Amino acid sequence: MPTAKPPLKYHLAEDTIDQKDIDRLIGWLQSNPRLTKDRLTLQLEEKWSRWLGAKYSVFCNSGSSANLLMYYALLLSGRLKNKKVVVPSTGWVTSLAPAIQFGFEPLLCETDPDTFGLDLDYLESLLKQHEPASVMLVQVLGIPHKMEALLRLKEKYGFFLMEDTCAAVGSSAYGKKLGCFGDLGSFSFYFGHQASTIEGGMISTDDKGLYDLLLMLRSHGWSKDLDEPAHRSLVQKYEVDDFHRPFVFYEPGFNLRSTDLNAFIGLHQIEKLDGMATQRHENHLRYLKHLKDHFYVQRWEDPQAKISSIHFAAVAESREQRRSIINALTEHGIETRIFSAASLGRHPFWFNRYGKVNFPVADRIYSSGFFLPNHASLKAEAVDFIAQVVLEAVCVEKS
Ligand SMILES: Cc1ncc(COP(=O)(O)O)c(C=O)c1O
Repeated sequence: MPTAKPPLKYHLAEDTIDQKDIDRLIGWLQSNPRLTKDRLTLQLEEKWSRWLGAKYSVFCNSGSSANLLMYYALLLSGRLKNKKVVVPSTGWVTSLAPAIQFGFEPLLCETDPDTFGLDLDYLESLLKQHEPASVMLVQVLGIPHKMEALLRLKEKYGFFLMEDTCAAVGSSAYGKKLGCFGDLGSFSFYFGHQASTIEGGMISTDDKGLYDLLLMLRSHGWSKDLDEPAHRSLVQKYEVDDFHRPFVFYEPGFNLRSTDLNAFIGLHQIEKLDGMATQRHENHLRYLKHLKDHFYVQRWEDPQAKISSIHFAAVAESREQRRSIINALTEHGIETRIFSAASLGRHPFWFNRYGKVNFPVADRIYSSGFFLPNHASLKAEAVDFIAQVVLEAVCVEKS
């Protein structure tokens, strides 16, 4: 007979939408407001841009949609000298799926042994050999890339940079929030992320041309969401009469909008976000104190960085050691899982198209990485307890 699993006491993630948020939402719903995308979406976008330190933001229905829109806006901008794009080997499937969907030539990059982001030496070799027009990076789990060196490469080789910040919301480094280092930054507001709008995503940019494209691509390709001068210039260019004006489609768009209901939730999430990110940062440092001498963990360069990590990630010595740790965590009701999607080149969607790749760092994370809970309601004592369980599992295995 299979033994029943002990009940979960420590979840990997908790909802950031709390009872107060629900009560506020109920009160708002009772006023019978407009629910589809309207002025609250605009308010959220403005508030988000101010919070982040970017000029423009576009709210959409998921982080994956945000990534899809970034790729497509770049492609339609006509500014790419080719369709080659560097993509990370450690990240999420939808960090690079749009490259495949839109017919880019994706060049997979090995993982940096410190940050677990792009390995910058490997990146430079791809830049030299292939001269790709664009690079997608993932700020892995809230740990910043070595951004100064990366931006030097951007300057030297002149590529467009997309910054997937979906799992790093609220982190900052080198005096800036993550998500505003690239030409375009994406964010996810799914459950378990640093802020939630149930489902939701955002793209931010300082580039007005890309912003206008994003607005059109999010909603069918029409110009209704553009500001008056941008809208007028299209109307004049194509000599559109008043009656046709709202339903002329300038780009082959999608419908990736969210709603004002999600925006209502988002407006209050922003107010709590810095506080929640600080709690995640403190938990992360506490885990590090316990575990850094025993496990391979992510490291970052800027001592002033704020690490709003989505989970605490560690890499065991071997798959077997990871098995012992997972068993111990499960016995104590502590939720765990593999490291994100780990090595993306090890998944069928990749190797069925481009063949197998061997990346020592990404593969090690794939075979031996695991997650520990981190969220804004996780207390210091819980972090101490979870770290203790992990350490004891390793000692038991070693003895
Ligand atoms: C790095 C990264 N990019 C994109 C996404 C997709 O976000 P969403 O679940 O909102 O589509 C995730 C989801 O966890 C992620 O971790």
